[in-house]
Amino acid sequence: MIVIPMSNSIKLGKSIAKKSKAKLGKLTSNLFPDGEFHIRLLTKVKGKEVVLVQSLSPNPNDSLLELIFTAKTVKELGAKKVTAVIPYLAYMRQDKRFKSGECVSNQYMAWLINESVDRLLTVDPHLHRVHDLSELFHIEQTKITANTAIAKYINKKFSNKNTLIIGPDIESSQWAKKIANQIGFESSIFLKQRFSSRHVKIKVTKELDWKGKNVVIIDDIISSGHTMMEAVKSLLKKKVKAVHCICVHAILSEGAYEKLKKSGAKTIVSCNSITHKSNKIDLATIIAREL
Ligand code: R5P
Repeated sequence: MIVIPMSNSIKLGKSIAKKSKAKLGKLTSNLFPDGEFHIRLLTKVKGKEVVLVQSLSPNPNDSLLELIFTAKTVKELGAKKVTAVIPYLAYMRQDKRFKSGECVSNQYMAWLINESVDRLLTVDPHLHRVHDLSELFHIEQTKITANTAIAKYINKKFSNKNTLIIGPDIESSQWAKKIANQIGFESSIFLKQRFSSRHVKIKVTKELDWKGKNVVIIDDIISSGHTMMEAVKSLLKKKVKAVHCICVHAILSEGAYEKLKKSGAKTIVSCNSITHKSNKIDLATIIAREL
């Protein structure tokens, strides 16, 4: 097996290669003067199982195209099987035509991947109106969750005696509630109303004994940061001791990390599905185990 880290996941890809005891493959990916990709494999792949590691953030469009071009090349050069490890699978939130004429792009992202690789391995894909990856992908699929890795992190840093776990919206209960149950922490799931990609409102549904407690908010994605910021604001009003934010996928676009810190989040921690300075929870072991 050869593991090839791609531009968005160099460090994670190298670590996956090491942990899965695979050969580390290499490619170069540059831009021609006109901005087109120039991709070149530097490792022979004929007859091999090839694993491409590429997160689709930042630059979801470029990184997807780079992955597709590389996968097609690897296949054409005779690889026996091509697996795409896509720790963060972009476009999964575009799962409905919210306004007339909109492109339901999750289908077309899936179409490109179905056409190019034999297997998809991803971490906590955003499954909302699509309930299972098999609704989008006909290739072999493996979906893993970062829940145990996050649970271990929380257990190491916090005590269940003075820490509460929060999910900022109903969908987040598949992380927040499950993790809280796994390690015996009290939890509450808030309600979120989304008006636009940068405007949300959060409602506290179940009151807990907040005063003087540490609160850890867990969500799958922090994108613009507005969901977390609204949740942090409503918790600070409850006179909690400190609010900590944890996510699987740290998109943290448009200065969201700094804005979230400014809004009062004491710490912001993420898994390394997307390379970011907030990465503290490593996924290489659980990914390597599945290869
Ligand atoms: C949406 O349902 C997700 O679980 C996240 O809550 C959402 O993507 C966060 O987005 P933002 O940071 O832009 O509020």
